[in-house]
Amino acid sequence: MKIAIGSDHAGFRLKEFLKDFLRESKCEVVDFGTDSEESVDYPDFAFKVCESIVKQDVQFGILICGTGLGMSIAANKVKGIRASLCNDLFAARCAREHNDANVLCMGGRVLGEALAKEIVKIWLNGEFQGGRHERRIQKITEYERKTHSD
Ligand code: RB5
Repeated sequence: MKIAIGSDHAGFRLKEFLKDFLRESKCEVVDFGTDSEESVDYPDFAFKVCESIVKQDVQFGILICGTGLGMSIAANKVKGIRASLCNDLFAARCAREHNDANVLCMGGRVLGEALAKEIVKIWLNGEFQGGRHERRIQKITEYERKTHSD
């Protein structure tokens, strides 16, 4: 599995930790930065990660800022992206099973490393359930098609 990862300064440490964990788990990881705890703007990294998904260079994305909120707001502006803010295990499972989310957002100032690792494991191993959820996703995709210019 190929995964893009990105963070701002507030998510940098957790990004580095998760990057190592993902590589140990045999995932191919493309790191879009940031590269230190120096202050940066989260949308710059959200857009790079999301564009790599839209271009189908990678399958999924992981984005980390202080709360995960800014990253999820920015990521969901990109056509074709369904970003899920998951700071707990239940949300992580539902995000894949119900929402077919292709981006996982987390809060580096909210989560400890152990919980973040479990969230990533559950999120990556979850499978979309389809059925009634498919119909709802289609409504979102159709709305995007009608309202976004290419
Ligand atoms: C940075 O201070 C912080 O605002 C950012 O990491 C994020 O939490 C925004 O949603």
